[in-house]
Amino acid sequence: MTIGELLEGKRVCICGGSGGVGKTTASAAIAMGMAATGLKVAVVTIDPARRLAEALGLEELDNEPRLVDPSRFDGHGVEMKGELWAMMLDPKRTFDEVIDHLAEDDKTRDEILANRIYQELSTAVAGSQEYTAIAKLYELDREGDFDLLVLDTPPSRNALDFLDAPDRLTQFFEGRALQVFLRPGGFATKIVGRGTGVVFSVLKRVTGVDLLQDLSVFFRSLGGLIDGFKERADHANELLTDPATTFLLVTSPEREPVDEAIFFWRKLRDAQMPFGGIIVNRVHAAFGGDASPEVVVEALEPKLGKKLSGKVAAAFAEHRMLAERDQETIVRLREEMEQPALIEVPALAGDVHDIDGLVEIHRYLIADDAERAAMLDATIA
Ligand SMILES: Nc1ncnc2c1ncn2[C@@H]1O[C@H](COP(=O)(O)OP(=O)(O)OP(=O)(O)O)[C@@H](O)[C@H]1O
Ligand SMILES: [Mg+2]
Repeated sequence: MTIGELLEGKRVCICGGSGGVGKTTASAAIAMGMAATGLKVAVVTIDPARRLAEALGLEELDNEPRLVDPSRFDGHGVEMKGELWAMMLDPKRTFDEVIDHLAEDDKTRDEILANRIYQELSTAVAGSQEYTAIAKLYELDREGDFDLLVLDTPPSRNALDFLDAPDRLTQFFEGRALQVFLRPGGFATKIVGRGTGVVFSVLKRVTGVDLLQDLSVFFRSLGGLIDGFKERADHANELLTDPATTFLLVTSPEREPVDEAIFFWRKLRDAQMPFGGIIVNRVHAAFGGDASPEVVVEALEPKLGKKLSGKVAAAFAEHRMLAERDQETIVRLREEMEQPALIEVPALAGDVHDIDGLVEIHRYLIADDAERAAMLDATIA
């Protein structure tokens, strides 16, 4: 299976998985590879490593995709037929944009954005990143400027946090606490309307902060937006279950991320969300056949001497052990996930933080299974 086949007819590709497995790297490589085939692709990255951000020209922080200068790909072995657009998610700003879209008029919007309580709340909500990632995805999809959107997902300890982010925000708004606050005669109107005003006015005089004003504006203006939030959450859920959306899980071949990937896969299935396949990243490729350490030492000793060839043989044996362990894990993964589309990407010698690194990863993504197997055989990581 090639990445092109996996993404055939898809408009949205979401790369999920445990922390540190290569989600951001895979997202960037996938987007670049699909753009190279002639599509207009946008990748939304979340906290990319600084050097990768620089390689993609992501210094601009305006929360909109920017065209990656096509000349950046010159001389790197990839012919860019389409357009790669890239952005780094700014969660706080995305949340402000949601308010901007939902507010009926500029006055309401400005009131909310300037409100101290909103600022605290939005920083807290944005801090979770999951909600804002989906909000941004939804917005870009709605604007419809791109053939394909590739979404990197936040490094959450629990990959599943991502799936119910829209619901969690809605639950917060529908939650009892807020309802009690907002309903007529509820807490909000009480503190605004009664003797508590004295406390607030003293506070205001002492601190200069008009908390009462902040509170009442917050509840009055945000109250009007709740239905809009719910509606957007519904739309976001629709987008996550749309047949033109696909989830690619990314994992390393270690036990824990693989367990989590399997768990995530089950959740996707239960929620009837479209699963595309799994990328097993940083695989230790087996190489050199099954030569025993003695044979290796014998072959190398004339050139390297006894001590060094012994070391090489030991490193070789260790690498082979890792390669075997990885293959066992992959067999388990295939069984548990009922034979998914699976793409193995080897552990490269260094970090992937430039165009060359992405091109290298992308070679494995665009290969079909037989080509990839041949490439992995030839890899010395
Ligand atoms: N195939 C690979 N070979 C070598 N290094 C790799 C490979 N894939 C990713 N890396 C490196 O591993 C590190 C983690 O990758 P990346 O940032 O893509 O993971 P992530 O899943 O996005 O992490 P986080 O959960 O923190 O967002 C990076 O330094 C990256 O350059
Ligand atoms: Mg990342």
